[in-house]
Order: sequence, then C-alpha cells, then structure tokens
Amino acid sequence: MIRHPKRTLFFVMFFAACTFICFRIQPSNSTHNRQSRHVVEQNFMEITRFPTPKKSNESFGVRLPCHPLENITKPYYLYIKDNMTGIDKTFFKLNDSKITEIPMDFSTSGHHICSWTVPRIFFAVLSVANASASRLEIRETWASEFYTESWRQLSQRRIAFFFGGAGLSSAQLRSLQDESARFGDIVVGDFNDTYDNLSLKMAVVISWVAQYCPNIEAMVKIDMDTFVNVDALLHLLKELPTDAHKNYVYGNRYNNDQAPVMRTGVWRVPKTIYPFEFFPQYVYGHSYVISGSAVKLLAKSFPYFPIIPNEDAFVTGIMSLVLNITRLDKSAFADLTKEDAVLTFDRGIDVTVVMKKEKREVVWSTLRRKKCKSV
Ligand SMILES: *[C@@H]1O[C@H](CO)[C@@H](O)[C@H](O)[C@H]1NC(C)=O
Ligand SMILES: *[C@@H]1O[C@H](CO)[C@@H](O)[C@H](O)[C@H]1NC(C)=O
Ligand SMILES: *[C@@H]1O[C@H](CO)[C@@H](O)[C@H](O)[C@H]1NC(C)=O
Ligand SMILES: *[C@@H]1O[C@H](CO)[C@@H](O)[C@H](O)[C@H]1NC(C)=O
Ligand SMILES: *[C@@H]1O[C@H](CO)[C@@H](O)[C@H](O)[C@H]1NC(C)=O
Ligand SMILES: *[C@@H]1O[C@H](CO)[C@@H](O)[C@H](O)[C@H]1NC(C)=O
Ligand SMILES: *[C@@H]1O[C@H](CO)[C@@H](O)[C@H](O)[C@H]1NC(C)=O
Ligand SMILES: *[C@@H]1O[C@H](CO)[C@@H](O)[C@H](O)[C@H]1NC(C)=O
Repeated sequence: MIRHPKRTLFFVMFFAACTFICFRIQPSNSTHNRQSRHVVEQNFMEITRFPTPKKSNESFGVRLPCHPLENITKPYYLYIKDNMTGIDKTFFKLNDSKITEIPMDFSTSGHHICSWTVPRIFFAVLSVANASASRLEIRETWASEFYTESWRQLSQRRIAFFFGGAGLSSAQLRSLQDESARFGDIVVGDFNDTYDNLSLKMAVVISWVAQYCPNIEAMVKIDMDTFVNVDALLHLLKELPTDAHKNYVYGNRYNNDQAPVMRTGVWRVPKTIYPFEFFPQYVYGHSYVISGSAVKLLAKSFPYFPIIPNEDAFVTGIMSLVLNITRLDKSAFADLTKEDAVLTFDRGIDVTVVMKKEKREVVWSTLRRKKCKSV
C-alpha cells in the first residue's frame, strides 16, 4: 500500500535526525490537532478496516523556532474600494428570475473528498485533461501533506482538480477515471472546458464546493502553475477581519484603478454582455481565497446573473460587488510578472506564486526543509 517510497524514506531519515528539535519545540496548541487526527484515523480504521498508514507521531516537518508570517509585511490586508464614477449601478443586481443554468451533473463526482470530517480549507485547482504530470507534481509537492500514503485525504486541508467533460474524448475521460480511482481527487463536470468557458467553470466549481464541502472556513482557487506555501497561507487567514466580514474574497488586487475591459483577443467581452469600459476592482485569478459563507452566497446567486467572461473579474469583481462581498488585497499572492519569485517565496515573503516547473522544484526543496509550525 505504500506508494510514496521516497517520502517514507524522508520521514524515517528525518525522524532519526531531528527527534530532538521536533519534540522540544512544539506549538502550544498542537495537542488538540494531534488528538483530532488520531480520532479521525481511528474512525477510519473501524469503518473501512484498511490499515492506517503509520505516522511517525508528530515528527512531520521541521519545527524551527520561527513564525510563518515573520517576513510578510503588515498590514495583512487592505480593503478594496471601487470608483464607480460613470457606471450604472443598477446593472450590478441579481435578476428576479433564473437566467443562467449552472450544470451540476458530474460524471466523476468526487463527493467523498470532503467526507470523514469537516475540513477547514479546500483547494480547488482548475486543471485540463492533458496535464496529469503537473497534477502529480502538485500532489507530491505543496499539497503532499494533505494525503496519507495511500492517497486518502483526511486532514483539515483537502484538494481537488476540476475538469469539464463535454468536449473530451472517451480515452481522455477514461484516463481521468483511472486517475480518480488512484488518487480520489478528480471532479469532472458536464460543460465544455474551453478558455471562453472559464467563468462558467468557476461557477460550477464554487457550486460544487457549496454542495459537497459545506461548512468549510474558506476555499482557495489555484491555477496549475501556481505554487502555494500552505502553512503561511493558513496563518494569514487567521489575521482577516472575519467577524465583521464573513463574506470575503482575498487576493492580489489587479493593479489598475479602473481595470479595462477588452473587446478583442482572448480576454474579450462583448458589449452586449457587459456594457461598461472597466470592471469593478478585482483580484488576480492565479490564486484567491473565498470565505465559506461567500461560497454559499455565490452558489445560490449564479443562476440569477449572466456569466461574464474573465473568471477573476467576474467572480472577485462583478459578483463581489453584486453580493456585497468584502474584497481584501494582499500582494503576498504574488503578481504573475514577479521576476525574483523564487527568492521572495523562499524567504516567506509570498504565500502563492506563479512559476515555471524548474523553479517550482527548487522552491519545494527549500520549503519542505523550512517549515516553522503546522497549523
Ligand atoms: C506519541 O508521543 C506521545 C508523547 O509525546 C506518546 O504518549 C504516545 O504514546 C506516542 N504515540 C506513538 C504512536 O508513538
Ligand atoms: C474616479 O474616476 C474618475 C474618472 O473615471 C476620476 O475623475 C475621479 O477623480 C476618480 N475618483 C476618485 C476618488 O479616485
Ligand atoms: C432579467 O432577465 C431577463 C431575461 O434576460 C431580462 O429581460 C430582464 O430585463 C432582467 N431583469 C432585470 C431586473 O435585470
Ligand atoms: C494541453 O491542453 C492545453 C489546452 O487544452 C494546451 O494549451 C496545451 O498545449 C496542452 N499541453 C500538452 C502538453 O499537450
Ligand atoms: C466546445 O467548444 C468548442 C470551441 O468553442 C467547439 O468547437 C465544440 O463543438 C464544443 N463542444 C461541445 C460539446 O459543446
Ligand atoms: C461552454 O460549455 C457549454 C456546455 O458544455 C457549451 O454549450 C458552450 O458551447 C461552451 N461555450 C464555450 C464558449 O466554449
Ligand atoms: C455590506 O457588507 C458590510 C459588511 O461586510 C456591511 O457593513 C454593509 O452594511 C453591507 N452593505 C449592504 C448594502 O448590505
Ligand atoms: C525570514 O527571513 C530570514 C532571513 O532571510 C530567514 O532566515 C527566515 O527563514 C525567513 N522566515 C521564513 C518563515 O521564511
């Protein structure tokens, strides 16, 4: 059953090498986490009778005496406000009747992904059928601690990869089913997975999360080429003003006071669908967080509003304005054009970053050694 020989070897070597550090420097609240994980694994054994993979008793990760947010600049968030001069605000209202059909049939449903216990956080990765190698890389790098050695997800963090199945060949669908049987983290919906349909895809993803992962604290939308410092991100979420703003989106503000609407090219939006020259303020789409209650509100509302192309502008800009979802800005969801990304990510200055494959490998080798505390 052990399918992570390299990782297992790493644990064993690591355990031998630094038992001293690990057991001396424990986060003060770790007892609770350890107990709840223990309970989860016990229940799991009773129900399925599969052997639970042996964990080396909290020796997971190097616990150096540092805090994951120590190099992230304050403030941890800024409120995003619109300058709606010259915009007809009546456009930004839900229709009284349903005008959009969100396809909620799934040939591979992934309904088990958030079962066993309520996870705290859900990572939704928008993928494409032919990118299986990149998915494996994600499972073995930044998301590796979400899985047991038999690729089950039982911790407070879960992940799934999303696809539209309508345009896929039967060979592609079969290979996604095989991947699902092995890793259990695949969701295939019933829509045409084209770039032009990205806003619809995100509406399906959010609606899936509302249905199958209710009661999470937040979901994080991640693109395939984006690397995540999960510990730092989870610590950052604890700093948000969630009591006053239950409904929020959180990411890196698109750096233009009046984000222009394109009428030609891949990002084109027809005037008939969206008549204005600029979008409400929104955050970049490579990585952003949506609070659990905003996920539910969005899912409920999508049928009553047109789907507008440009997924990030649509979800984090337009729909946030329509639904009075608080938009929060932090540059640590690093800009797509950042050149020294490896350096800043290594130093814990960013929580997510878009980077090429070679760089992702470099970053992972540093990050896995430098974990400060688990959440
Ligand atoms: C884990 O460590 C605790 C003490 O820190 C000990 O009581 C417990 O028995 C250990 N569990 C295993 C499975 O080794
Ligand atoms: C809002 O935008 C208009 C131009 O569209 C500009 O004239 C005005 O100064 C802006 N207001 C603020 C508060 O930035
Ligand atoms: C609701 O949608 C219908 C059909 O698209 C449209 O004719 C109507 O104007 C919309 N109503 C509002 C209030 O936007
Ligand atoms: C995978 O598919 C995407 C779009 O569907 C395409 O842009 C990309 O080039 C493909 N990659 C490979 C390796 O075929
Ligand atoms: C999917 O979209 C492409 C491009 O727009 C189109 O050629 C194809 O027929 C569509 N397929 C389905 C099943 O809608
Ligand atoms: C979006 O997906 C739907 C459902 O599969 C399909 O009918 C439509 O053609 C797609 N649109 C684009 C622009 O690909
Ligand atoms: C919008 O939400 C904020 C809290 O996030 C609340 O204070 C404000 O009253 C809301 N505005 C409207 C119009 O509902
Ligand atoms: C913060 O920066 C210092 C100096 O570069 C580094 O030693 C430390 O590991 C960094 N902390 C984190 C959490 O990455």
